[in-house]
Amino acid sequence: MADRFFLTTAIDYVNGNPHLGHAYEKILSDAVCRYHRSIGDDVRFLTGVDEHGQKVQQSAQKQNIPPQEFCDTMSSHFRALADSLHISYDQFGRTTESAHKNVVRDFLQRTFDQGDIYFKTYEGFYSTRAEQFVTEKDMVNGEWPEIYGEVVPLKEENYFFKLSKYQDWLRDYVTAHEDFILPTFRRKEVLQALEKPLNDLCISRPKSRLAWGIPLPFNEEYVTYVWYDALVNYYSFAKDASGKSYWPATAHVIGKDIMVPPHAVYWPIMLHAIGEELPKQLIVHGFWMNRGAKMSKSVGNIVDPVPYIEKFGCDALRYFLLREMVVGQDADFWDEKVQQRYQSDLGNDLGNLVNRSLAMIGRYRNGVVPAYDAAKATEQEADLRSDAVITEYRTAMDGVQTHLALQAIWKLVTRANQYVEETAPWKLAKDPAQSGRLDLVLAHLAESVRRLSVLIGAIMPVTAEKIQAQLGLTTPQVQLSEAAFGTSLTGHTVNKPEPLFPRFEEPKK
Ligand code: ME8
Ligand code: MG
Repeated sequence: MADRFFLTTAIDYVNGNPHLGHAYEKILSDAVCRYHRSIGDDVRFLTGVDEHGQKVQQSAQKQNIPPQEFCDTMSSHFRALADSLHISYDQFGRTTESAHKNVVRDFLQRTFDQGDIYFKTYEGFYSTRAEQFVTEKDMVNGEWPEIYGEVVPLKEENYFFKLSKYQDWLRDYVTAHEDFILPTFRRKEVLQALEKPLNDLCISRPKSRLAWGIPLPFNEEYVTYVWYDALVNYYSFAKDASGKSYWPATAHVIGKDIMVPPHAVYWPIMLHAIGEELPKQLIVHGFWMNRGAKMSKSVGNIVDPVPYIEKFGCDALRYFLLREMVVGQDADFWDEKVQQRYQSDLGNDLGNLVNRSLAMIGRYRNGVVPAYDAAKATEQEADLRSDAVITEYRTAMDGVQTHLALQAIWKLVTRANQYVEETAPWKLAKDPAQSGRLDLVLAHLAESVRRLSVLIGAIMPVTAEKIQAQLGLTTPQVQLSEAAFGTSLTGHTVNKPEPLFPRFEEPKK
């Protein structure tokens, strides 16, 4: 039976426009899901948006429109971005959907019924930016850290969830499950956070202060804290259209800023408290920086992915982001680097290989991939015939190391380009005695191009399709097993090549 593989992304706040960080996370998740489909797993891929909370309410108020209308418009931007990036999600979940609201209320009721939620008066401080209560313990050198924005004193009656009751259990769980967090170095941060006593979590907001949320099932005068609501989305949308559940999730892909406390503390405890299974893994990526600086609205240096998709194409952006970032670490976004990788890795390496291989098959063999005598293959063909690239690619993708996966594939691209130079088909073509050798070389080039189209499929799905169309393949090849070296193209007619990554006209000075 196929392995069940259920992957989720963080759900983006709709109070601002989608940016490069959002795009990256969805691309990374998409590549992982496409890879798992390619090895035959039964994949469910969930993404979506986080639509409740104070910031959304405020943004809607500013525009003088009802919050639902605001969410409908904003969510459509996020969904359009996902679509333009060819994100192959099975569901785009929204936290304002009634199915989700019901699940949140069910979670709360079950937690309440067993006595893990209590009511008390809270007197302390509140951060509007973080939408959470803070205490003097959260101050650094007597000041509120910038992440909290404006902090105001507040006295309020609220509902609290007994996080502290489960602190020891969570510490033991994280200690015992080494692969709960990927990359593993981040597990230390979680264990460190669990060294200090946990405060119970305030999971309600009085409607008088915040109306835009899911009413508590046991007191309709309150709405649910936005993080409690948002985390539950992974569970609400775990079922496919036929009702088959994919819970527990195989992996939640998230950024490092939302690992501790929400995903590594609140969420496991929320599930464990009501006897639900925990997700198997958190895949925690780092942050994209704009030329070394943190992207932020106030600085005004947030990178909008759309112009890059428009200029270079969705696959070039996907390639760049997955090639540059080592999952877990931060990476720098530079205009020049995108341009440079587009021209060298994509244009000169992959694009040129496809172009000249198909052009030569057209020129010397009327577009038909020739049959050849395999016994005549030499050392020169060894690398092109080897399936080591598949193993290397698999190891990298299993560990979510997309940069290594691409490096493995590009070794074959580079080798195949060298092979063209070494064998010089244009010289072979001039010597009738070399006709058999030319057949063999052209067939190896065609096969290398075909294998590469399969190998890049998870990361560059549009280019993979284009290459296969140029090869004249009518059935898409997306299964990784199809990347093995073979002779399926023999006798097959290829199409005229078209540039995959066209050069830009340099602007005239
Ligand atoms: O945190 N580089 O939403 P969000 C890489 N709604 N990733 C980045 C990034 C950057 N510069 N900036 C943000 C939320 N991200 C909550 C999530 S999940 C139940 C609720 C990532 O719109 C960030 O780390 O602020 C997170 O994983 C995702 O984008 C959404 O961030
Ligand atoms: Mg954020």
